[in-house]
Amino acid sequence: MERHIRHSKTDARPSSVWTINGFSEDLPLRVFVSPTLPGMVKLPPYHLSIILDEESEIAQALIRAFDYMHSSEKDFGFECITTKLLALLNQWSDSVDLTKLLEVTPFGSSFRVSGQSITELQIWMSPNFQLERRYLSVPRLECLLGSLELPPLIDLDQLEFVSRLHDSISLIKLPDGQHAIFKGVVRVVARMYHELRELLNMPPHPNIIARPMFLVMRKVRGMEHPAVCGFILQFHAGGSLLHALTNIPYRHELQLATKIKWIRQIISAFLHIHGPANGYYSDLRPDNIVLNSDNDIILVDFEQGGSPKRWLPPETQPLHCDVNSELPQWSLSAVNPAYMPNSIHYSNPPFGYWKRFANASNRQREEMECYAIAKVIWCIFEEQTNQLSSWDLTDEEGRLRRNDGLQLKHTVFPYFSKTPPTLRHWIWACTKHSWEWGNERCRCTSIPEICGVSGARYHGGGMDAHPGPCIRNMHLALEGWIADQ
Ligand SMILES: Nc1ncnc2c1ncn2[C@@H]1O[C@H](COP(=O)(O)OP(=O)(O)O)[C@@H](O)[C@H]1O
Ligand SMILES: [Mg+2]
Repeated sequence: MERHIRHSKTDARPSSVWTINGFSEDLPLRVFVSPTLPGMVKLPPYHLSIILDEESEIAQALIRAFDYMHSSEKDFGFECITTKLLALLNQWSDSVDLTKLLEVTPFGSSFRVSGQSITELQIWMSPNFQLERRYLSVPRLECLLGSLELPPLIDLDQLEFVSRLHDSISLIKLPDGQHAIFKGVVRVVARMYHELRELLNMPPHPNIIARPMFLVMRKVRGMEHPAVCGFILQFHAGGSLLHALTNIPYRHELQLATKIKWIRQIISAFLHIHGPANGYYSDLRPDNIVLNSDNDIILVDFEQGGSPKRWLPPETQPLHCDVNSELPQWSLSAVNPAYMPNSIHYSNPPFGYWKRFANASNRQREEMECYAIAKVIWCIFEEQTNQLSSWDLTDEEGRLRRNDGLQLKHTVFPYFSKTPPTLRHWIWACTKHSWEWGNERCRCTSIPEICGVSGARYHGGGMDAHPGPCIRNMHLALEGWIADQ
Protein backbone atom coordinates (compact mmCIF):
# COMPACT_ATOMS: atom_id res chain seq x y z
CA MET A 1 0.00 0.00 0.00
CA GLU A 2 1.36 3.43 -0.88
CA ARG A 3 1.66 6.40 1.41
CA HIS A 4 1.99 9.91 0.14
CA ILE A 5 3.53 12.42 2.42
CA ARG A 6 3.23 16.13 2.86
CA HIS A 7 6.89 16.46 3.72
CA SER A 8 8.54 16.30 0.32
CA LYS A 9 10.83 19.26 -0.03
CA THR A 10 14.57 18.95 -0.08
CA ASP A 11 16.57 21.59 1.80
CA ALA A 12 17.55 24.81 0.05
CA ARG A 13 21.16 24.00 -0.92
CA PRO A 14 21.75 24.07 -4.71
CA SER A 15 22.95 20.46 -4.65
CA SER A 16 19.68 19.33 -3.06
CA VAL A 17 18.12 17.75 -6.07
CA TRP A 18 15.99 14.96 -4.64
CA THR A 19 12.36 14.77 -3.59
CA ILE A 20 10.60 11.99 -1.74
CA ASN A 21 7.28 11.26 -3.46
CA GLY A 22 5.86 8.56 -1.20
CA PHE A 23 6.34 5.11 0.23
CA SER A 24 5.26 1.60 -0.52
CA GLU A 25 4.65 -0.34 2.67
CA ASP A 26 4.66 -3.69 0.86
CA LEU A 27 7.84 -5.63 1.47
CA PRO A 28 10.55 -4.89 0.60
CA LEU A 29 9.92 -1.35 1.84
CA ARG A 30 10.37 1.18 -0.93
CA VAL A 31 10.70 4.94 -0.83
CA PHE A 32 9.79 6.62 -4.13
CA VAL A 33 12.26 9.35 -5.07
CA SER A 34 12.64 11.74 -7.98
CA PRO A 35 15.42 14.11 -9.00
CA THR A 36 15.16 17.78 -9.95
CA LEU A 37 18.07 19.29 -11.82
CA PRO A 38 18.80 22.90 -10.89
CA GLY A 39 17.78 25.25 -13.73
CA MET A 40 15.93 22.59 -15.72
CA VAL A 41 12.25 23.13 -16.35
CA LYS A 42 11.16 19.50 -16.53
CA LEU A 43 12.35 15.94 -16.15
CA PRO A 44 10.52 12.79 -17.28
CA PRO A 45 9.44 10.09 -14.83
CA TYR A 46 12.25 7.61 -14.04
CA HIS A 47 10.45 5.53 -11.40
CA LEU A 48 13.41 5.41 -9.02
CA SER A 49 13.11 4.02 -5.50
CA ILE A 50 15.19 3.47 -2.40
CA ILE A 51 14.80 -0.13 -1.26
CA LEU A 52 15.28 -0.69 2.46
CA ASP A 53 16.42 -3.94 4.00
CA GLU A 54 13.59 -4.92 6.33
CA GLU A 55 15.97 -5.76 9.18
CA SER A 56 17.81 -2.42 9.07
CA GLU A 57 17.33 0.22 11.73
CA ILE A 58 15.99 2.75 9.23
CA ALA A 59 13.38 0.29 7.85
CA GLN A 60 12.27 -0.53 11.38
CA ALA A 61 12.03 3.18 12.17
CA LEU A 62 9.92 3.68 9.07
CA ILE A 63 7.61 0.81 9.99
CA ARG A 64 7.19 2.36 13.47
CA ALA A 65 6.47 5.71 11.83
CA PHE A 66 3.69 4.07 9.74
CA ASP A 67 2.24 2.60 12.93
CA TYR A 68 2.24 6.00 14.59
CA MET A 69 0.53 7.42 11.55
CA HIS A 70 -2.41 5.08 12.28
CA SER A 71 -2.63 6.43 15.81
CA SER A 72 -3.38 9.95 16.94
CA GLU A 73 0.27 10.65 17.90
CA LYS A 74 1.60 13.84 16.39
CA ASP A 75 5.25 12.88 15.80
CA PHE A 76 5.31 10.26 13.08
CA GLY A 77 9.11 10.19 12.96
CA PHE A 78 8.96 10.72 9.20
CA GLU A 79 10.82 14.00 9.30
CA CYS A 80 13.94 12.42 10.74
CA ILE A 81 13.92 9.46 8.33
CA THR A 82 13.23 11.43 5.17
CA THR A 83 15.84 14.05 6.11
CA LYS A 84 18.41 11.30 6.52
CA LEU A 85 17.52 9.64 3.21
CA LEU A 86 17.57 12.93 1.31
CA ALA A 87 20.95 13.82 2.82
CA LEU A 88 22.31 10.46 1.64
CA LEU A 89 20.94 10.96 -1.88
CA ASN A 90 22.23 14.52 -2.11
CA GLN A 91 25.65 13.42 -0.93
CA TRP A 92 25.63 10.65 -3.56
CA SER A 93 24.54 12.91 -6.43
CA ASP A 94 27.20 15.49 -5.51
CA SER A 95 29.76 12.91 -6.55
CA VAL A 96 28.29 12.11 -10.01
CA ASP A 97 27.23 14.01 -13.15
CA LEU A 98 23.54 13.48 -12.54
CA THR A 99 22.35 14.96 -15.85
CA LYS A 100 24.42 12.51 -17.87
CA LEU A 101 23.75 9.62 -15.54
CA LEU A 102 19.97 10.01 -15.75
CA GLU A 103 20.07 9.81 -19.55
CA VAL A 104 21.39 6.27 -19.34
CA THR A 105 19.96 5.11 -16.01
CA PRO A 106 17.62 2.19 -16.67
CA PHE A 107 14.04 2.78 -15.83
CA GLY A 108 12.94 1.64 -12.35
CA SER A 109 16.50 1.55 -10.96
CA SER A 110 16.81 1.49 -7.21
CA PHE A 111 19.07 2.82 -4.51
CA ARG A 112 20.28 0.41 -1.86
CA VAL A 113 21.20 1.49 1.61
CA SER A 114 23.83 -0.35 3.61
CA GLY A 115 24.78 -0.10 7.28
CA GLN A 116 22.65 -1.33 10.13
CA SER A 117 22.60 1.77 12.30
CA ILE A 118 21.05 5.05 11.11
CA THR A 119 24.27 6.98 11.82
CA GLU A 120 26.48 4.91 9.52
CA LEU A 121 24.37 4.52 6.39
CA GLN A 122 25.72 4.56 2.85
CA ILE A 123 23.79 4.63 -0.40
CA TRP A 124 24.49 3.38 -3.92
CA MET A 125 22.55 2.93 -7.13
CA SER A 126 21.62 -0.48 -8.45
CA PRO A 127 20.74 -0.05 -12.15
CA ASN A 128 17.79 -2.07 -13.41
CA PHE A 129 19.53 -3.60 -16.45
CA GLN A 130 17.40 -6.75 -16.08
CA LEU A 131 14.35 -4.77 -17.10
CA GLU A 132 16.00 -2.93 -19.96
CA ARG A 133 17.23 -6.12 -21.57
CA ARG A 134 13.67 -7.34 -21.92
CA TYR A 135 12.30 -4.27 -23.66
CA LEU A 136 10.89 -4.66 -27.15
CA SER A 137 11.23 -2.15 -29.97
CA VAL A 138 8.16 -0.75 -31.74
CA PRO A 139 8.71 -2.90 -34.89
CA ARG A 140 9.08 -6.04 -32.75
CA LEU A 141 5.95 -5.26 -30.73
CA GLU A 142 4.04 -4.48 -33.92
CA CYS A 143 5.11 -7.81 -35.31
CA LEU A 144 4.03 -9.69 -32.14
CA LEU A 145 0.70 -7.93 -31.78
CA GLY A 146 -0.20 -8.60 -35.40
CA SER A 147 -3.26 -6.78 -36.66
CA LEU A 148 -3.71 -4.57 -33.57
CA GLU A 149 -3.35 -0.89 -34.31
CA LEU A 150 -0.81 0.68 -31.94
CA PRO A 151 -1.41 4.12 -30.39
CA PRO A 152 0.76 7.06 -31.53
CA LEU A 153 4.32 7.21 -30.18
CA ILE A 154 5.80 9.73 -27.78
CA ASP A 155 9.32 10.04 -26.45
CA LEU A 156 9.91 9.65 -22.68
CA ASP A 157 11.75 13.00 -22.68
CA GLN A 158 8.57 14.77 -23.79
CA LEU A 159 6.80 13.82 -20.56
CA GLU A 160 7.02 16.02 -17.50
CA PHE A 161 6.98 14.21 -14.18
CA VAL A 162 4.39 15.55 -11.71
CA SER A 163 4.06 12.92 -8.98
CA ARG A 164 4.51 9.22 -8.35
CA LEU A 165 1.28 7.38 -7.53
CA HIS A 166 2.56 3.83 -7.35
CA ASP A 167 5.56 1.63 -8.20
CA SER A 168 4.76 1.68 -11.89
CA ILE A 169 2.49 4.73 -12.14
CA SER A 170 3.25 8.45 -12.37
CA LEU A 171 1.09 11.44 -12.98
CA ILE A 172 2.73 13.38 -15.82
CA LYS A 173 2.10 16.38 -18.06
CA LEU A 174 1.97 15.85 -21.82
CA PRO A 175 3.56 18.48 -24.13
CA ASP A 176 0.14 20.16 -24.55
CA GLY A 177 -0.07 20.64 -20.76
CA GLN A 178 -2.71 17.93 -20.23
CA HIS A 179 -2.31 15.71 -17.16
CA ALA A 180 -2.15 11.98 -17.87
CA ILE A 181 -0.98 8.70 -16.35
CA PHE A 182 2.32 7.12 -17.36
CA LYS A 183 2.47 3.37 -16.69
CA GLY A 184 6.01 2.04 -16.92
CA VAL A 185 6.59 -1.16 -14.98
CA VAL A 186 9.73 -1.59 -12.93
CA ARG A 187 9.72 -5.37 -12.63
CA VAL A 188 8.14 -7.68 -15.22
CA VAL A 189 8.10 -6.07 -18.68
CA ALA A 190 6.21 -8.99 -20.22
CA ARG A 191 3.20 -8.18 -18.06
CA MET A 192 3.23 -4.57 -19.27
CA TYR A 193 3.11 -5.62 -22.94
CA HIS A 194 0.39 -8.10 -22.07
CA GLU A 195 -1.68 -5.36 -20.44
CA LEU A 196 -1.14 -3.17 -23.48
CA ARG A 197 -2.52 -5.91 -25.72
CA GLU A 198 -5.55 -6.42 -23.45
CA LEU A 199 -6.30 -2.69 -23.48
CA LEU A 200 -5.92 -2.45 -27.26
CA ASN A 201 -8.29 -5.38 -27.67
CA MET A 202 -10.90 -3.96 -25.30
CA PRO A 203 -13.99 -2.41 -26.96
CA PRO A 204 -14.76 0.88 -25.14
CA HIS A 205 -16.85 0.73 -21.97
CA PRO A 206 -17.64 3.65 -19.60
CA ASN A 207 -16.30 1.78 -16.54
CA ILE A 208 -13.10 0.41 -18.08
CA ILE A 209 -9.95 2.44 -18.67
CA ALA A 210 -9.84 3.63 -22.28
CA ARG A 211 -7.19 2.40 -24.71
CA PRO A 212 -3.75 3.99 -24.18
CA MET A 213 -3.32 7.47 -25.68
CA PHE A 214 0.38 6.97 -26.53
CA LEU A 215 3.14 4.37 -26.44
CA VAL A 216 6.21 5.76 -24.67
CA MET A 217 9.62 5.15 -26.24
CA ARG A 218 13.11 5.49 -24.92
CA LYS A 219 16.50 5.11 -26.58
CA VAL A 220 18.26 2.25 -24.85
CA ARG A 221 21.90 1.24 -25.20
CA GLY A 222 22.38 -1.81 -27.42
CA MET A 223 19.02 -1.51 -29.21
CA GLU A 224 18.80 -0.29 -32.77
CA HIS A 225 15.28 1.10 -32.45
CA PRO A 226 13.87 2.92 -29.40
CA ALA A 227 12.29 0.60 -26.84
CA VAL A 228 8.65 0.73 -25.72
CA CYS A 229 9.04 1.48 -21.99
CA GLY A 230 5.42 2.24 -21.11
CA PHE A 231 2.14 3.78 -22.18
CA ILE A 232 -0.03 6.79 -21.42
CA LEU A 233 -3.52 6.48 -19.99
CA GLN A 234 -6.25 9.00 -19.31
CA PHE A 235 -5.93 10.38 -15.76
CA HIS A 236 -8.96 9.92 -13.51
CA ALA A 237 -8.88 12.37 -10.66
CA GLY A 238 -11.10 10.67 -8.05
CA GLY A 239 -8.36 8.48 -6.50
CA SER A 240 -8.59 4.73 -6.04
CA LEU A 241 -11.52 2.91 -4.43
CA LEU A 242 -9.02 1.71 -1.83
CA HIS A 243 -8.30 5.32 -0.96
CA ALA A 244 -12.03 6.10 -0.81
CA LEU A 245 -12.61 3.20 1.60
CA THR A 246 -9.62 4.16 3.76
CA ASN A 247 -10.41 7.84 3.95
CA ILE A 248 -12.52 8.08 7.09
CA PRO A 249 -14.49 11.33 6.60
CA TYR A 250 -15.30 10.35 3.02
CA ARG A 251 -16.19 6.78 4.00
CA HIS A 252 -18.67 7.91 6.62
CA GLU A 253 -20.50 10.04 4.08
CA LEU A 254 -20.95 7.21 1.59
CA GLN A 255 -24.59 6.97 0.55
CA LEU A 256 -26.32 3.66 -0.15
CA ALA A 257 -27.12 4.98 -3.65
CA THR A 258 -23.40 5.51 -4.34
CA LYS A 259 -22.57 2.02 -3.12
CA ILE A 260 -25.22 0.48 -5.37
CA LYS A 261 -24.06 2.59 -8.32
CA TRP A 262 -20.45 1.41 -7.89
CA ILE A 263 -21.44 -2.26 -7.59
CA ARG A 264 -23.64 -2.05 -10.68
CA GLN A 265 -20.82 -0.41 -12.62
CA ILE A 266 -18.32 -3.09 -11.59
CA ILE A 267 -20.70 -5.83 -12.68
CA SER A 268 -21.45 -3.97 -15.93
CA ALA A 269 -17.67 -3.85 -16.62
CA PHE A 270 -17.43 -7.61 -16.01
CA LEU A 271 -20.40 -8.35 -18.30
CA HIS A 272 -18.54 -6.38 -20.96
CA ILE A 273 -15.23 -8.15 -20.35
CA HIS A 274 -16.89 -11.57 -20.66
CA GLY A 275 -19.21 -10.40 -23.46
CA PRO A 276 -17.95 -8.16 -26.27
CA ALA A 277 -14.32 -8.25 -25.07
CA ASN A 278 -14.29 -12.05 -24.70
CA GLY A 279 -11.68 -11.87 -21.96
CA TYR A 280 -11.37 -12.07 -18.21
CA TYR A 281 -10.21 -9.93 -15.30
CA SER A 282 -8.26 -11.71 -12.60
CA ASP A 283 -7.07 -8.77 -10.46
CA LEU A 284 -10.20 -7.24 -8.95
CA ARG A 285 -9.54 -5.40 -5.68
CA PRO A 286 -10.09 -1.80 -4.54
CA ASP A 287 -6.63 -0.56 -5.58
CA ASN A 288 -7.31 -1.61 -9.17
CA ILE A 289 -10.43 0.50 -9.32
CA VAL A 290 -10.21 4.26 -9.71
CA LEU A 291 -12.95 6.88 -9.56
CA ASN A 292 -13.42 9.50 -12.24
CA SER A 293 -14.49 13.10 -11.67
CA ASP A 294 -18.17 12.00 -11.70
CA ASN A 295 -17.42 9.49 -8.92
CA ASP A 296 -17.94 6.62 -11.37
CA ILE A 297 -15.98 3.37 -11.37
CA ILE A 298 -13.08 2.88 -13.80
CA LEU A 299 -11.37 -0.53 -13.82
CA VAL A 300 -7.59 -0.31 -14.36
CA ASP A 301 -4.67 -2.77 -14.30
CA PHE A 302 -5.26 -5.34 -17.02
CA GLU A 303 -1.99 -7.22 -16.51
CA GLN A 304 -3.94 -10.38 -15.58
CA GLY A 305 -1.37 -11.02 -12.89
CA GLY A 306 -3.61 -12.29 -10.07
CA SER A 307 -4.10 -10.99 -6.55
CA PRO A 308 -3.08 -11.86 -2.99
CA LYS A 309 -4.76 -14.85 -1.38
CA ARG A 310 -7.50 -12.91 0.38
CA TRP A 311 -9.02 -12.06 -3.05
CA LEU A 312 -8.93 -15.55 -4.46
CA PRO A 313 -10.88 -18.74 -3.79
CA PRO A 314 -9.00 -21.52 -1.98
CA GLU A 315 -8.86 -23.72 -5.10
CA THR A 316 -6.51 -21.21 -6.75
CA GLN A 317 -4.05 -21.47 -3.89
CA PRO A 318 -1.32 -24.04 -3.32
CA LEU A 319 -2.48 -27.23 -1.60
CA HIS A 320 -1.72 -27.67 2.11
CA CYS A 321 -1.45 -23.91 2.48
CA ASP A 322 -0.95 -22.92 6.10
CA VAL A 323 -3.85 -20.57 6.62
CA ASN A 324 -2.10 -18.76 9.42
CA SER A 325 0.94 -17.66 7.47
CA GLU A 326 -0.18 -15.92 4.33
CA LEU A 327 2.87 -13.80 3.78
CA PRO A 328 5.76 -16.25 3.60
CA GLN A 329 3.77 -18.60 1.36
CA TRP A 330 2.46 -15.90 -0.89
CA SER A 331 5.63 -13.92 -1.15
CA LEU A 332 7.57 -16.98 -2.29
CA SER A 333 4.85 -18.24 -4.55
CA ALA A 334 5.66 -18.55 -8.24
CA VAL A 335 2.25 -17.10 -9.03
CA ASN A 336 2.86 -13.91 -7.06
CA PRO A 337 3.32 -11.35 -9.82
CA ALA A 338 5.84 -9.42 -7.74
CA TYR A 339 8.10 -12.45 -7.64
CA MET A 340 7.60 -13.74 -11.15
CA PRO A 341 10.98 -14.38 -12.66
CA ASN A 342 12.18 -11.20 -14.34
CA SER A 343 13.63 -13.28 -17.12
CA ILE A 344 10.36 -13.70 -18.96
CA HIS A 345 10.50 -12.22 -22.46
CA TYR A 346 7.15 -11.17 -23.85
CA SER A 347 5.70 -13.83 -26.09
CA ASN A 348 2.11 -12.68 -26.70
CA PRO A 349 0.52 -15.53 -24.67
CA PRO A 350 -3.17 -16.08 -25.50
CA PHE A 351 -4.42 -15.96 -21.88
CA GLY A 352 -1.71 -14.13 -19.97
CA TYR A 353 1.01 -15.37 -17.64
CA TRP A 354 -0.94 -16.36 -14.58
CA LYS A 355 -1.37 -20.10 -14.86
CA ARG A 356 -4.38 -20.51 -12.56
CA PHE A 357 -6.48 -18.32 -14.82
CA ALA A 358 -4.77 -19.07 -18.09
CA ASN A 359 -5.44 -22.80 -17.73
CA ALA A 360 -8.99 -22.49 -16.38
CA SER A 361 -12.21 -22.80 -18.38
CA ASN A 362 -14.29 -19.69 -18.87
CA ARG A 363 -16.79 -20.97 -16.30
CA GLN A 364 -14.03 -21.58 -13.72
CA ARG A 365 -12.64 -18.12 -14.36
CA GLU A 366 -16.05 -16.60 -13.75
CA GLU A 367 -16.34 -18.43 -10.44
CA MET A 368 -12.96 -17.07 -9.38
CA GLU A 369 -13.92 -13.60 -10.54
CA CYS A 370 -17.26 -13.80 -8.67
CA TYR A 371 -15.30 -14.57 -5.51
CA ALA A 372 -13.35 -11.30 -5.88
CA ILE A 373 -16.47 -9.36 -6.92
CA ALA A 374 -18.29 -10.65 -3.82
CA LYS A 375 -15.41 -9.48 -1.63
CA VAL A 376 -15.39 -6.05 -3.28
CA ILE A 377 -19.18 -5.83 -2.75
CA TRP A 378 -18.53 -6.64 0.92
CA CYS A 379 -15.84 -3.91 1.03
CA ILE A 380 -18.18 -1.34 -0.49
CA PHE A 381 -21.17 -2.08 1.75
CA GLU A 382 -19.12 -2.53 4.90
CA GLU A 383 -16.74 0.39 4.08
CA GLN A 384 -13.74 -1.88 4.63
CA THR A 385 -10.70 -2.73 2.51
CA ASN A 386 -10.03 -6.48 3.02
CA GLN A 387 -6.38 -5.49 3.45
CA LEU A 388 -6.36 -7.56 6.61
CA SER A 389 -7.84 -11.03 6.69
CA SER A 390 -9.40 -12.95 9.59
CA TRP A 391 -6.69 -15.60 9.23
CA ASP A 392 -4.08 -12.89 10.02
CA LEU A 393 -5.63 -12.31 13.45
CA THR A 394 -5.48 -14.29 16.65
CA ASP A 395 -8.55 -14.04 18.92
CA GLU A 396 -6.62 -11.66 21.13
CA GLU A 397 -5.61 -9.41 18.24
CA GLY A 398 -9.19 -9.47 16.97
CA ARG A 399 -10.26 -7.77 20.20
CA LEU A 400 -7.85 -4.85 19.70
CA ARG A 401 -9.39 -1.63 18.47
CA ARG A 402 -8.53 0.44 15.43
CA ASN A 403 -8.14 4.21 15.47
CA ASP A 404 -11.81 4.67 14.69
CA GLY A 405 -12.80 2.55 17.72
CA LEU A 406 -13.77 -0.58 15.75
CA GLN A 407 -12.54 -3.92 17.03
CA LEU A 408 -10.26 -5.50 14.43
CA LYS A 409 -12.45 -8.59 14.22
CA HIS A 410 -15.29 -6.33 13.09
CA THR A 411 -13.25 -4.95 10.20
CA VAL A 412 -12.45 -8.23 8.47
CA PHE A 413 -14.39 -10.46 6.09
CA PRO A 414 -17.01 -11.89 6.64
CA TYR A 415 -18.19 -9.68 9.49
CA PHE A 416 -21.42 -8.03 8.37
CA SER A 417 -23.09 -4.95 9.75
CA LYS A 418 -24.14 -2.78 6.80
CA THR A 419 -24.65 -5.19 3.88
CA PRO A 420 -28.34 -5.82 3.02
CA PRO A 421 -29.29 -9.41 4.04
CA THR A 422 -30.14 -10.74 0.56
CA LEU A 423 -26.78 -9.61 -0.73
CA ARG A 424 -25.06 -11.16 2.29
CA HIS A 425 -26.46 -14.39 0.98
CA TRP A 426 -24.93 -13.78 -2.45
CA ILE A 427 -21.60 -12.86 -0.95
CA TRP A 428 -21.71 -16.09 1.00
CA ALA A 429 -22.74 -18.09 -2.11
CA CYS A 430 -19.72 -16.79 -4.02
CA THR A 431 -17.20 -17.21 -1.19
CA LYS A 432 -18.62 -20.07 0.88
CA HIS A 433 -15.56 -22.25 0.19
CA SER A 434 -13.29 -19.73 1.93
CA TRP A 435 -11.68 -20.69 5.22
CA GLU A 436 -12.65 -17.27 6.47
CA TRP A 437 -16.22 -18.38 7.08
CA GLY A 438 -14.98 -20.74 9.74
CA ASN A 439 -17.85 -21.56 12.09
CA GLU A 440 -19.73 -18.32 11.48
CA ARG A 441 -23.44 -18.93 11.90
CA CYS A 442 -26.30 -16.94 10.47
CA ARG A 443 -28.09 -14.91 13.14
CA CYS A 444 -30.78 -13.35 10.98
CA THR A 445 -33.17 -16.30 10.78
CA SER A 446 -34.18 -19.37 12.69
CA ILE A 447 -35.81 -21.12 9.72
CA PRO A 448 -34.16 -24.37 8.70
CA GLU A 449 -33.02 -23.33 5.19
CA ILE A 450 -29.55 -22.44 6.26
CA CYS A 451 -26.24 -23.73 5.07
CA GLY A 452 -24.95 -26.47 7.35
CA VAL A 453 -21.38 -25.24 7.03
CA SER A 454 -21.51 -21.48 7.14
CA GLY A 455 -24.95 -20.94 8.63
CA ALA A 456 -25.75 -18.42 5.89
CA ARG A 457 -29.37 -18.29 4.77
CA TYR A 458 -30.79 -19.68 1.55
CA HIS A 459 -33.49 -17.30 0.39
CA GLY A 460 -36.72 -17.83 -1.56
CA GLY A 461 -35.45 -20.49 -3.94
CA GLY A 462 -32.49 -18.28 -4.72
CA MET A 463 -29.92 -20.99 -5.06
CA ASP A 464 -32.21 -23.09 -7.25
CA ALA A 465 -32.89 -20.13 -9.48
CA HIS A 466 -29.16 -19.34 -9.62
CA PRO A 467 -27.29 -22.59 -10.07
CA GLY A 468 -23.92 -21.15 -9.16
CA PRO A 469 -21.88 -18.00 -9.11
CA CYS A 470 -21.27 -16.59 -12.56
CA ILE A 471 -21.24 -12.97 -13.65
CA ARG A 472 -24.68 -13.18 -15.29
CA ASN A 473 -26.30 -14.69 -12.16
CA MET A 474 -24.59 -12.12 -10.01
CA HIS A 475 -26.03 -9.41 -12.24
CA LEU A 476 -29.51 -10.98 -12.02
CA ALA A 477 -29.30 -11.31 -8.23
CA LEU A 478 -28.26 -7.69 -7.83
CA GLU A 479 -30.86 -6.30 -10.23
CA GLY A 480 -33.52 -8.50 -8.60
CA TRP A 481 -32.61 -7.07 -5.22
CA ILE A 482 -32.64 -3.49 -6.53
CA ALA A 483 -36.09 -4.06 -8.12
CA ASP A 484 -37.41 -5.28 -4.73
CA GLN A 485 -36.27 -2.12 -2.95
N1 LIG B 1 -5.85 6.06 -15.14
C1 LIG B 1 -5.60 6.31 -13.86
N2 LIG B 1 -6.01 7.46 -13.28
C2 LIG B 1 -5.73 7.72 -11.99
N3 LIG B 1 -5.02 6.91 -11.17
C3 LIG B 1 -4.57 5.75 -11.70
C4 LIG B 1 -4.83 5.38 -13.06
N4 LIG B 1 -4.26 4.18 -13.29
C5 LIG B 1 -3.68 3.80 -12.13
N5 LIG B 1 -3.86 4.73 -11.17
C6 LIG B 1 -3.37 4.68 -9.77
O1 LIG B 1 -2.19 3.89 -9.73
C7 LIG B 1 -2.39 2.73 -8.92
C8 LIG B 1 -1.71 1.53 -9.54
O2 LIG B 1 -2.17 1.33 -10.88
P1 LIG B 1 -2.15 -0.12 -11.54
O3 LIG B 1 -2.50 0.02 -12.99
O4 LIG B 1 -2.99 -1.00 -10.71
O5 LIG B 1 -0.61 -0.50 -11.40
P2 LIG B 1 0.06 -1.88 -10.93
O6 LIG B 1 -0.06 -2.80 -12.11
O7 LIG B 1 1.45 -1.51 -10.62
O8 LIG B 1 -0.72 -2.38 -9.74
C9 LIG B 1 -3.90 2.58 -8.81
O9 LIG B 1 -4.24 1.99 -7.56
C10 LIG B 1 -4.38 4.01 -8.86
O10 LIG B 1 -4.27 4.59 -7.58
MG1 LIG C 1 -2.72 -2.65 -9.52
